[in-house]
Amino acid sequence: MSQTPATAPVRVRRAELSDLDDLVALEQATFDSDRISRAQFRRHLDSDSARVLVASANHRRFLGTAMVFFRKGSRVARLYSIASLPEARGKGVGTALIEAAESAARQRRCQSLRLEVRVDNESAVRLYERLGYRRAGPLKKGFYEDGSDAFVYQKALA
Ligand SMILES: CC(C)(COP(=O)(O)OP(=O)(O)OC[C@H]1O[C@@H](n2cnc3c(N)ncnc32)[C@H](O)[C@@H]1OP(=O)(O)O)[C@@H](O)C(=O)NCCC(=O)NCCS
Repeated sequence: MSQTPATAPVRVRRAELSDLDDLVALEQATFDSDRISRAQFRRHLDSDSARVLVASANHRRFLGTAMVFFRKGSRVARLYSIASLPEARGKGVGTALIEAAESAARQRRCQSLRLEVRVDNESAVRLYERLGYRRAGPLKKGFYEDGSDAFVYQKALA
């Protein structure tokens, strides 16, 4: 009997060049604007200031992705992007990706992880709040390419 991601433990690994097609396909299927291009993904895979993560379970080697940015001299890491495959949502993929992003930030000696989220993205906001993220700073008006506003959320990393 085949197992579904709902019962399988989610693992998170560093993205490789062979993930590029999946990364680009998920990005295009998920976001209408502010998309990360193939060339940008390729650059980030190789970059010291970015960490691209991929979630997998059992024999599904790609269930979702998250990207964290680091800035020289800054103890604040930025969760730039996160998405799970539509059919894999609500099964812990997003949670595992965020936890892995936090670990990556801790390894880089960052003290907190910050992110922006569309004000109307209720499922993402709920997930972040459940994982201990709190609103930080004012609303970012017109933050996204389509003019939408963003909340800034941040969590201190123990
Ligand atoms: C936001 C997003 C990444 C969340 O990913 P996800 O894989 O669904 O995340 P999880 O499964 O870990 O958590 C989602 C919910 O399922 C619940 N859940 C997790 N594992 C579960 C399980 N095994 N059984 C039942 N429910 C579960 C979580 O508690 C969570 O509930 P909540 O909504 O009350 O917080 C996903 O919805 C997505 O890709 N959205 C489109 C892109 C996007 O908006 N990205 C954010 C941009 S800022």
